[in-house]
Amino acid sequence: MLAPVLTIDGPSGAGKGTVSRLVAKKLGWHYLDSGSIYRSVAIAIQNASVDLANISDIIKVTQAMVLGFECGDTLIVKLNGIDITDQLGLESTGNIASQVAVLPEVRAILLQKQKDFRQLPGLVADGRDMGTVVFPDAGNKVFLTASAEKRAERRYKQLIEKEIDANLAKIKSEIEARDRRDMERETAPLAMASDALYIDSSEMTINSVVEEVIKLIR
Ligand code: C5P
Repeated sequence: MLAPVLTIDGPSGAGKGTVSRLVAKKLGWHYLDSGSIYRSVAIAIQNASVDLANISDIIKVTQAMVLGFECGDTLIVKLNGIDITDQLGLESTGNIASQVAVLPEVRAILLQKQKDFRQLPGLVADGRDMGTVVFPDAGNKVFLTASAEKRAERRYKQLIEKEIDANLAKIKSEIEARDRRDMERETAPLAMASDALYIDSSEMTINSVVEEVIKLIR
């Protein structure tokens, strides 16, 4: 029997990660953070000192990388056996990830790695193309978004709480640049699946978003 899937797609900073983790925990389902896979490619090419213009070497590095996920209270990601969890969340990693994510060859290599997460009793999959490309047959789909202002404010607060220096205007313009790149690319652009539930979290708490998503499943 094919495991049921709930997909949660949307732009960066809409709260997909937090909502997906909480929903997966409530349902007792597995969780796929597909962004972390693209972020791992970004780290792999940085480790190998590959230039972003060198597409054939980016493809080689993507093919060769071995990823390990350990899902406990927090997600631990290993690249070729080395824990890269701390590097995954960096703004620079996300920006490079969105540049390699435009390459169809990279997306094709990563497709099966993502499908392999579909295991019983079920999967919550978070990303940009979960409901449109990776799991088009998912039983439940959500498109979670929020205004660029709100997403920038949330990211700014997170960084300040971690005592990392941050500039709100710069974060907002990086978020807008990343949105444009994710929406305008030719392969698997960020788009809402026609059968997805649209949720704008700008004025919502995380808990109320989680409740709406759980209602959809039940
Ligand atoms: O979600 P996160 O910010 O971790 O994703 C980093 C980047 O990876 C995104 O900006 C996007 O370009 C890419 N990505 C993607 N498809 C996914 C998940 C992430 O293209 N399913």
